[in-house]
Amino acid sequence: MKKNELILILDFGGQYNQLIARRVRECNVYSEVVPYDISIEKIKEKAPKGIIFTGGPASVYGEDSPKCAKEIFDLGIPVLGICYGMQLMTHTLGGNVSKANTREYGTTKVNINNNSPLFQGFENTNDFLMSHTDFVSEVPNGFKNIGSTEHCPNAAMENPDKKLYGIQFHPEVNLSVNGTKVIENFLFNICNCSGDWQISSFVEESIKSLKEKIGDKKALCALSGGVDSSVAAVLLNKAIGKNLTCIFVDHGLLRKNEGDEVEQIFRNQFDINLIRVNAQDKFLSKLAGVTDPEKKRKIIGEEFIRVFEEEAKKIGTVDFLVQGTIYPDVIESGLGKSSVIKSHHNVGGLPDYVDFKEIVEPLRNLFKDEVRKTGLELGIPENLVFRQPFPGPGLAIRIIGDITEDKLNILKEADSIFREEIANAGLHKSINQYFAVLTNLRSVGVMGDERTYDYTIALRAVETTDFMTGVWSKIPYEILEKVSSRIVNEVKHVNRVVYDITSKPPATIEWE
Ligand code: XMP
Repeated sequence: MKKNELILILDFGGQYNQLIARRVRECNVYSEVVPYDISIEKIKEKAPKGIIFTGGPASVYGEDSPKCAKEIFDLGIPVLGICYGMQLMTHTLGGNVSKANTREYGTTKVNINNNSPLFQGFENTNDFLMSHTDFVSEVPNGFKNIGSTEHCPNAAMENPDKKLYGIQFHPEVNLSVNGTKVIENFLFNICNCSGDWQISSFVEESIKSLKEKIGDKKALCALSGGVDSSVAAVLLNKAIGKNLTCIFVDHGLLRKNEGDEVEQIFRNQFDINLIRVNAQDKFLSKLAGVTDPEKKRKIIGEEFIRVFEEEAKKIGTVDFLVQGTIYPDVIESGLGKSSVIKSHHNVGGLPDYVDFKEIVEPLRNLFKDEVRKTGLELGIPENLVFRQPFPGPGLAIRIIGDITEDKLNILKEADSIFREEIANAGLHKSINQYFAVLTNLRSVGVMGDERTYDYTIALRAVETTDFMTGVWSKIPYEILEKVSSRIVNEVKHVNRVVYDITSKPPATIEWE
């Protein structure tokens, strides 16, 4: 099989490192972010088509400033240094870096030499985001200037013979006009990439390498029905078939029919060795009478581990534990150094409780949207692949106050109607999370000629990119009206529906 073209991104601590990796992959070239002190041997082994140095907060003159091996510039591999990366290249190769009196920050007009292959297709000036204090005051021998701004004499430089390039600005951010074009030029004009990386090649290669790695040993996967663990499980299944066992702990706090859907997909469609543990009674009895949200979470977390452990024990020692860790988890937790801690978090501390020899994380190099593409490529149904986020404690934190089976059923029905109508209205792609909440409030209503005293359902819908902040969604009145009327008519013991019009902050997305 043909080896993937690879661009290595050396991480000098800049805030946009993930974005650089993204932009490269958007050009259909596979990229990996690696620590700045990666050894020359390792680089040779990986044989990248090109190397990008990221920016970073340090100054090259700082005592502990991150430095790469000097030999990197003699490998004959093209290098693009961005911001700090350009300054480091300059400093290492004998040029001069100086401190400016003031920081240059913001979108800035850069005069560029569009004869350089880096700026092919550009006008003579272009707006790029500058964000720096230090600057290159003298380019190293063999380099020439190919860009400047009012305050920065060397905003871009090149040594075409050695294929070394430096830019003081950040092409990876949206604030830079046509920024991706600079990256594209580097990849295709300078590194001679062909841009043939696709998710299908990732899938094919992963299956092959998982087969080699695991052979006929046994692997265990905790399946939640979420996107990441589902994709990881199907990928492993394609590689090792029945030597993979998935345990799906159904705590009974999933949405309407969700447990059955998960089972149906994995057992019937993929013929995966699946153990579904129907543990609703256990969870409900532990949760009986508990009203404090934090206590609910804790009980569910602990019970989940206990049930999983019980099942895992029946299987005995496994060689591999499969985890759905994805790339942002890895990068955010410091490039592998602390990623193990993070993956523990991902499954609520499972590795401490399960007897296994090694962790396997088949998605650890993929971004979320790439995980989704992988899921589609593997034939996982769209509604699972594009499933909205669903909290581990499930509906338990959407029922205010104590949880009973009756309340769970009321909420499941109301929530299902809301989701159905949002999908019917075609809003399911623009609203990032939407669900019903069973408030603990009962109020007086009238149904026919009868007085009722029943529950109030709250509807919650938010638009957000990162789920850290968000705004409430302006769902058209007619749709809210339809949802409200269906819920009070079709769901017994609900006589009032309200819509939550609070953004985050100050409210959180979930009610508990
Ligand atoms: P909040 O309510 O804090 O939620 O605004 C932000 C996002 O996180 C999800 N969430 C959770 N996910 N376990 C999870 O796996 C949890 O305990 C949990 N609590 C909240 C929430 O659904 C939203 O997407």
